Amino acid sequence: MYSKEQTQKLQKITSELLKKNKDHAIHKKEVRELRDILRFHEYRYYILNDPLISDFEYDQLYRSLAKIEEEDSGLITPDSPTQRVAKGLTKDFPEVQHLVPMLSLENSYNPDDLVDFDRRARELAGVNEIEYCIEPKFDGAGISLIYEDDLLVRGATRGDGVKGDDITTNIKQVKSIPLSAKFSDYGIKQIEIRGEILINKNNFKKYNELMAEQNLPPLANPRNAAAGTLRIKDPKIVAERNLEGFLYQVSYYTTTHKDYKVFRYHSEILSLLWNLGFRSPEKEKKVVTGIEKVIAHCKKFEEGRDDLPYEVDGLVIKVNDLDLQDKMGMTSHHPRWAIAFKFKARQATSHLKTVEFQVGRMGNITPVAKIDPVPIGGVTVSSVSLHNEDFINEKDIRIGDSVLVERAGDVIPYIVKSFPELRKGHEKKIHFPEKCPVCGKPIYKPEGEAAWRCINYNCEAQVVQRIIHYASKDALDITGLGEAIVSKFHESGWLKTIADIYRLPFDEIEKLEGFGKKSVQNLKNAIEKSKTQPLYRIIYGLGIRFVGEATAKTLAQAVSHLMGLKNFSEEDLQKLEDIGPKVAAAIHQFFHNKENIELLEELERAGVHFKNEKKNFAKNGNLNDLTFLFTGTLPTLKRSDAESMVEEHGGHVLNGVSAKLNYLVVGEDAGSKLEKAKKINTVKIISEEEFLKMLKEK
Ligand code: IVH
Repeated sequence: MYSKEQTQKLQKITSELLKKNKDHAIHKKEVRELRDILRFHEYRYYILNDPLISDFEYDQLYRSLAKIEEEDSGLITPDSPTQRVAKGLTKDFPEVQHLVPMLSLENSYNPDDLVDFDRRARELAGVNEIEYCIEPKFDGAGISLIYEDDLLVRGATRGDGVKGDDITTNIKQVKSIPLSAKFSDYGIKQIEIRGEILINKNNFKKYNELMAEQNLPPLANPRNAAAGTLRIKDPKIVAERNLEGFLYQVSYYTTTHKDYKVFRYHSEILSLLWNLGFRSPEKEKKVVTGIEKVIAHCKKFEEGRDDLPYEVDGLVIKVNDLDLQDKMGMTSHHPRWAIAFKFKARQATSHLKTVEFQVGRMGNITPVAKIDPVPIGGVTVSSVSLHNEDFINEKDIRIGDSVLVERAGDVIPYIVKSFPELRKGHEKKIHFPEKCPVCGKPIYKPEGEAAWRCINYNCEAQVVQRIIHYASKDALDITGLGEAIVSKFHESGWLKTIADIYRLPFDEIEKLEGFGKKSVQNLKNAIEKSKTQPLYRIIYGLGIRFVGEATAKTLAQAVSHLMGLKNFSEEDLQKLEDIGPKVAAAIHQFFHNKENIELLEELERAGVHFKNEKKNFAKNGNLNDLTFLFTGTLPTLKRSDAESMVEEHGGHVLNGVSAKLNYLVVGEDAGSKLEKAKKINTVKIISEEEFLKMLKEK
């Protein structure tokens, strides 16, 4: 969409505007430029996943635009980036008719089905061989968008395929969907585009972590999350969920010249949408001739399914030639020129054997279903959380029931439903314990919350869980201090508080079965290393209620020393980003509890660094939040030096190639990591030279 020259030019203007912004010198006459610049950076961020400026800098420019528009509302255009934001709540979602019915797809599950489809397709088309365009089958909520004279005028749900609901306000919250696009450059006046709204795996996980922190049941899968979010009446909440839009089909268009055909091939549609700033599957698409090649691609793509940042439930195979598509036509249910190839199901039925009650680090009591082990998506599932009493009642789940279990991607398993119609009469209702199943002390249910809690802060289960959390990967990352070892050390009386980690009797540990000099030394090293972890990890590791990683980062940035948080009132805390009254109260309470302060003092005495060295928050020289991995021999840098450079500039070094990786820096003799990275579209593969350039430029 933007050439190299344009990108460089726009980035130069960005720097000038940012400089001016410091002196409040951006003028009204620059409003168009500012808008174009913001659109450019939205594109870099939401479509390319490759921002050129920090979120902070984007916000600065956005605010300048909002200010200018506020001072003179005559300057506002309907496609201004500020116009995504809606005031107040949406009243309702009126029913609207689709310009062309939104049909479904025929499904196939194995190569034979595809061979059969190809035979029928060739017969209908009257040709020997067909060129197909293959693209992901996005597992989200189907939508239709209408653009008129380049402006987005309507966004609707699929509904029953004939009529859907007008959700334009919510569609505008999806930042990867352009509010305007230059269809007129191609002679198009009105166009209806089809696509899918998704929530990527990472945002879905974050969302469910947030739900878990508040003891609310998680959403079953990203598909439900996306579909549910589109129906929320508060556009602000919709915006917070970070939905993404993939557009893959043009169902209808009119042109300024009568009978003018803009496209001949489906693959051209994907390219045009991509060039106009949409997130079409342009990079994921594959055009091949003959069904054998289709089958080979399906197989390969399914293997890499888990590496994609979003959920796909299969591939869609479409006849590429649009004239052939017309010739083949459709049934009332699906087009005859397309078929979905469905991947292996992520669901399985099993039998619920018993329910155990686990006590978490906050005392929350979670029922966990033990089921007959079943393989789902390559993992054997035998335990599934039932979340809380309300969840069990709503889903009418009983001991002895047949249950449908889903495991979407790397998401935790979830019970979708029970099958009451299969009951034989011996199934039993699940009874909640009346006392803490671990310490026997009373339990209570705070008002407005769904979970029962154990009242006893010193309950063994809570203590152990708190220590496990402190040592966990995202917190202090003490390798070797996992669940089993923490429990063992706790039983031996060595680990009663977090601070005990720093006075473990290593001589005694060495004598334990399964421990040797080497493993004790490794543990010692890991514990030593934890002392210099960045401040936000310590804050997260303390396990303060409602404080997840994001809030921990906000808190760490607000102080130069951990103990500084003692001086924050609830009002002060609420002034920080994304901290509301409930979270502020929990943080305030934590830092005004004598036992907690004593624990913190003990940790500091043990040598844990409480100073904020701002290591991971380098404001300038900014690789903030970008992730890197190095592979092969680098021409000039030592691997460890290169990794330190990333950290110093606020980035993170990952252990392996996954969808979370932004950049793979490749040296000589790079091996499997490079191969794996090539399969993930969002990973950028760069050389040491490019890496060093990034450090300088950013
Ligand atoms: S084309 C007339 N392409 O799958 C053909 N659909 O199970 C319309 N879907 O209703 C569909 N990814 O919501 C098409 N690349 C893709 C798709 C896709 C996901 C959805 C779509 C459709 C459903 C059918």
